[in-house]
Amino acid sequence: MVKILRGTMNKHRKGILLAGGSGSRLYPLTVPTSKQLMPVYDKPLVYYPLSVLMLTGLQEILLISTPEDLPSYRKLLGDGSTWGLSISYAEQPSPDGLAQALLIAEDFLAGHPSCLILGDNIFYGHDFTACLSKANENEKGATIFGYHVSNPSAYGVVEFSSDGKVIGLVEKPTQPVSEYAVPGLYFYDERAPALAGTLSPSSRGELEITDLNRCYLSEGSLQVELIGRGTAWLDTGTHDSLLDAGNFIQLVEKRQGLKIACLEEIALAKGWIDKEQLTKHVSSLGQSSYRHYLESLLQSPAHFLNQLPT
Ligand code: G1P
Repeated sequence: MVKILRGTMNKHRKGILLAGGSGSRLYPLTVPTSKQLMPVYDKPLVYYPLSVLMLTGLQEILLISTPEDLPSYRKLLGDGSTWGLSISYAEQPSPDGLAQALLIAEDFLAGHPSCLILGDNIFYGHDFTACLSKANENEKGATIFGYHVSNPSAYGVVEFSSDGKVIGLVEKPTQPVSEYAVPGLYFYDERAPALAGTLSPSSRGELEITDLNRCYLSEGSLQVELIGRGTAWLDTGTHDSLLDAGNFIQLVEKRQGLKIACLEEIALAKGWIDKEQLTKHVSSLGQSSYRHYLESLLQSPAHFLNQLPT
């Protein structure tokens, strides 16, 4: 039985991890399996967004995927208790848009605020954890992020007035309104499912997350936090970007001798599992560099956990 540690918020925030879609841009890799299960160097892609929810301090998580792919996620993550989490699962039968995740999650959220993360988004940076804490503490309205990119037209984009105020959000504009893309990480108050219920499908037939964010913008309750240069936000939607992400993770991990998105390490740092639980888990693993890393962590936890911004 996982013990959920309560924070100081009225109602604690719950996490939603959306790992749906057909992954058609990664064909033929995605024929036998889900895009968010693709390897990014030494772990499945979904570990990275899951680690972001954990670093935010969220232990109750709903993973949404297609009916075909859910069994693979259950096999990989189980009930989450290995990491002191409570993971439940829900189906998105067809890819009808990111905002649909809030409708699917309505019963799971049961009036709690949420943090939605897309299963193919990778974030890495020491200061990023402080961004997460700040967004988590904001109980009213929504918080989204802006990140400077070279190809804004591929994303939702933030539009600013000449004095730097956020005046608009545009989904994949042909003429970019700024260089600030909106990453797939959204913090919402408890009204998000109800607001998502008011949306109509866009011209591509989807309930757009940008339209949900616009609801908050129009009522003046949208915070847009800019993520600075020191944080990496990586996309994994194409063969090149998936390989780039793997190479980036390999480079940083090999250089530092520290793993990125090691779920056991975060769970131990948060006090969600103890050394005994981790020892038992490690003994069930085959020989791999991942196991060897966990063994080093068990030998000198303070050495590793000091490096982890929680
Ligand atoms: C989606 C959103 C877009 C956002 C992006 C982040 O786009 O619609 O606003 O910037 O995720 O990854 P997609 O990647 O589904 O085309």
